[in-house]
Amino acid sequence: MGDFDPAFIQDTEHRPKPAVIEADGIPKIDLSPYITSSPNTNTAAIHNLVDQIRDACKNWGFFQVINHGVPIESREKIQLAAKRFFDQSTEEKRKVKRSERNPFGYSDTEHTKNVRDWKEVFDFTVNAPAVMPASCEPDDEETAEYDNPWPQYPPELREVCEEYAKHVQKLSYKLLALISLSLNLPEDRFEPFFKDHGSYARLSHYPPCLAPDLALGVGRHKDGGALTILAQDDVGGLEVKRKSDRKWIFVKPTPNAFIINVGDVIQVWSNDAYESVEHRVRVNSTKERFSIPFFMNPAHYTMVEPLAELTNEQNPAKYKAYNRGKFFVARKYSNFKKLDVENLQIYHFKKTG
Ligand code: OGA
Ligand code: NI
Repeated sequence: MGDFDPAFIQDTEHRPKPAVIEADGIPKIDLSPYITSSPNTNTAAIHNLVDQIRDACKNWGFFQVINHGVPIESREKIQLAAKRFFDQSTEEKRKVKRSERNPFGYSDTEHTKNVRDWKEVFDFTVNAPAVMPASCEPDDEETAEYDNPWPQYPPELREVCEEYAKHVQKLSYKLLALISLSLNLPEDRFEPFFKDHGSYARLSHYPPCLAPDLALGVGRHKDGGALTILAQDDVGGLEVKRKSDRKWIFVKPTPNAFIINVGDVIQVWSNDAYESVEHRVRVNSTKERFSIPFFMNPAHYTMVEPLAELTNEQNPAKYKAYNRGKFFVARKYSNFKKLDVENLQIYHFKKTG
């Protein structure tokens, strides 16, 4: 990446304000009752776990999990391979760069809110080939398939990414089941939406930035999918907007834990019972940082709308149904083109009156 040029920042929202609170912050949840024992053997512990998930989703939209069942070796392997990939020259990395059409591969020009993020990424679908709408035109029913443009170097990248994704995907289904229970729904209520899921993972690298108060690794945003399962390293930089007072809270790294957040799709399914919360990434002046978010997404053809069981006359559906694939493609397209319009957001589908 080039030298930092503060001139490209016009949006002052993209600049972190200094008064960030370092607190224990988001809840830490021990998943062992659900991961290591079969669900029916320890019902009191499961009830307690579901209560913790409900509180965390309501009060924070974010939580960390420990004893999650993802082997530490798999995480170490992907972290090492990611470092080897990003250590190459820009020219080498751009051989697998993302294009206007294929959303997977390398990119160092991502934008949040039309401002360049101080990061580089490699995105890969975990359900290859990924199927999605060919365009964001509402009447265009054509779909297209995309494969991952795996690089030649490091040679193990593909295998370690696929293995890691398999483990995290398993965890994501368990989390989804717990969230479903926490909304008083059957454990498998969300499963059908994920039959042809469109989940993808991202290797993110945040190089040191000489002007850390003028840039952000990722500007403030909400995640558009169902759930995000994030592995961050020990450098830290993720900040979450606390719901109670709208202050930015630094998420202290916990070794080997995952950070989970509810995305826009769960906000809509739950009819706003759980909110998709804003977050951003601060950069560091001396240390580089790596993180790996896994974005769990329903199938592209899913029409996302509040679940019938969670709405009634007193609590009518707050959203009109929207197509998940079109939503994704519209966002990718405006990011790619750096269009001078606000990204598509779920509140654009809010019902009025
Ligand atoms: C994201 C994100 C956080 C991080 O990519 O959507 O919020 O710590 N990443 O990298
Ligand atoms: Ni995010």
